Formats: sequence, structure tokens, C-alpha cells
Amino acid sequence: MLVKKTLLLKVDSQNPEKEKIQKAADFIKKGGLVAFPTETVYGLGADALNSKAIFALFEAKRRPLDNPPIVHVGDASDVHRLVKETTPKAEKLMKIFWPGPLTLIFKHSTIVPDVTVAGLDTIAIRMPNHNVALALLKESRCPIAAPSANLAGKPSPTTAKHVLDDLDGRIDAVLDAGPTHIGVESTVLDLTAMPPQILRPGGTPYEKLKEILGDVRLHPVAVAEKEMPIEGARSPGVKHKHYAPNAEVVLVEGEISVVKEKVKELAESHRRESRKVGVLATDETADYYRADVVKSLGSRNDLATVAKNLFRLLREFDSESVDVIIAEGIPTEGLGLAVMNRLRKAAGYKIVKAE
Ligand code: TXA
Ligand code: MG
Repeated sequence: MLVKKTLLLKVDSQNPEKEKIQKAADFIKKGGLVAFPTETVYGLGADALNSKAIFALFEAKRRPLDNPPIVHVGDASDVHRLVKETTPKAEKLMKIFWPGPLTLIFKHSTIVPDVTVAGLDTIAIRMPNHNVALALLKESRCPIAAPSANLAGKPSPTTAKHVLDDLDGRIDAVLDAGPTHIGVESTVLDLTAMPPQILRPGGTPYEKLKEILGDVRLHPVAVAEKEMPIEGARSPGVKHKHYAPNAEVVLVEGEISVVKEKVKELAESHRRESRKVGVLATDETADYYRADVVKSLGSRNDLATVAKNLFRLLREFDSESVDVIIAEGIPTEGLGLAVMNRLRKAAGYKIVKAE
């Protein structure tokens, strides 16, 4: 593909400068590609109703065409022309959780191009909670398809620098409003299933959805304890390699006192084999390990901070060229479930149960 000059537009995250948003929106309107911040991670945006732009989006990310992006809207009422119908349940969820990190799956209407939904009869939609994203949507006057702004398979970007590390020269512009707030992607909830199913845990915790919906299930792919056969996967993205740093990742799960011993033992045995070892630890345990690089996600009692740091730390291990990352499992409550889903996938399901 042609190398383009990628324009870096620094914007104020609360009150984005109008001329910069206009510049970015001009690219979108002309079928171009613009990376922008959301409250979860940076997305790579293109006009969701322009098939040519969406083909270019897949190409820039090197994303397989069978994995559809999430379509972003600037107002809940924009959903109506994109979907066949909404239900009282969907309306209620949109009212409570939008703008925010919850993506809803609907049957789509006929105006949506095939490529945008990878030929499926459903569409994933969310309204992001970020002033820059909302300003861009408003100014572009179209729904914006935006997968995470990383090369396929890599950890999602939480800063504009991560975006450029993967996509510089492949996209038209990036709006830089600093690090994102949540750090893991939105929760994907399938409302076409009965009862509704979580296909990907994310920024809106399962517990919160359960409070509102009563009956909501976690699809086995959302838990990601093991690889699922492709037929079993309702969410197309789950069958592709994901969140993987260059280093091998080994995830150790179990009760923290035993996990600590196992992580220590694994780190030491890899070092004896002369491999450069990284340990992904938490504040409570980081001092305990001997490895080439030890990084802490934050306190085990503060899973929001853990989520916020996850993708950045995975990328940092790569820039320090470690050969193997031994990662400590964390509790699966609240945002912890999203973090563990990403770690299990990053590990290619290489999970060691410490007992
Ligand atoms: O937080 C987020 O969701 C970020 C920001 C940029 O909004 N976006 C994001 O998009 O993570 P992406 O494309 O990287 O992930 C979209 C996920 C994939 O797992 C995909 O398979 C799933 O949503 N998905 C998209 N359309 C779907 C559909 N019709 N049915 C089931 N799953 C779908
Ligand atoms: Mg992604």
C-alpha cells in the first residue's frame, strides 16, 4: 500500500479545538482514515457507510475481512437507521450506559454495506464517552466504524504514540488527546441472543449489566479460559490472534500466595535458559520477583488502574525485547474479567494453574 503522511493533531481532550476536528472530519468525509481517542482505547475511524473507506480500513490494520469493526454513533437516536429494530431492553441499556463502554449487537438495516458487517446480518454499535470522539462524529455527520487503532493481533493502543508505532504512514491522521481513561475495550453484548450474551468483557462490568438485565450470560469465549472451536464462536473476532506482544506470554492463575511462588519459579527457570524474562506483577508482589524486567499493573485492590495499564505494559515489554513474559493472574471481578480475557488471549491460552 502507498505510504501516506500521517498528520498528528494534538487536541484538548475536554474542549477539542474546532479547526482540528474539522480537519479530521474532512478526511472521514472524503473516505479517509483517522485515529481518535475514546474512553477505552484509540479507534481507527472511517465512514461506516462508505465501503471503499472500510476496505481501506481493513487494509491499513491488516485485519482479516471476516472480523467486523464496531460502528460508533454520536447520538443514541442515530442507531435507528442502522438497525432493523430496537427493543425496550436495548433502549433501556442505551439510556443507562451511553455514552460509555458498552457495544450492543442488533440486526442491521439495509443501508449498512456488507463489508462494514463482514457479511453478517448483525451490527455492533456504541456511543463513546469522549469529547473528542463525540466532536468528530458530530462534525463528520456519519456513523464511524472504528476498530482499535492497532495492527491486527497487537495490543490495543491507549496513546497516540502506540497508534503511530503501528500505523504511521498507513493512515491520514491521528487526534492525540493523551492516554485513554479505561484502557481496555468496550463490553460487547449480543442482544439478538436470548438471554443476552456477553461476547467480550470490557469497560462495562458484567455485574452492572446483571443488575439491570437480571438474566445475562457470559459466552464461553468471553471467559476465554481455553481456545474455542470456531463454530462455537459467535463473536467473529475471537478466532483471531489477539493482544499478543512479540514475547511469549505465560499466564499463572490461582490463589495469590501460590501464584507468587509459581511465577518466581518460572521466571528463574527461564533465566537459567538465558532468556530475557519479564514479569507482569502487581504492587503487592513486584518486589518479590527476580527477573530482567519487572513491571507492576498497580494494586490488586484497584482493578481500574490495572486495566488502564495493561496494554501499555505489554507494549513496553516488547520495546525492551524480553523473550518471555510471566504474568500474574488477577481476580475476575469487575474490570478484572476484561483484563483476564485479554491476558488469556495474549498468552495464546498458555495458562498455568498454580495450586
Ligand atoms: O472500546 C472499543 O470497543 C474499541 C473503541 C475504539 O471503541 N473498539 C474495538 O473495536 O475494540 P474492535 O473492532 O477492535 O473490536 C470489535 C469486536 C470484535 O471482537 C468483533 O468481532 C466484535 O466486536 N463484533 C463486531 N461486529 C460484530 C457482530 N456483528 N457480532 C458479533 N461481534 C461483533
Ligand atoms: Mg481490536
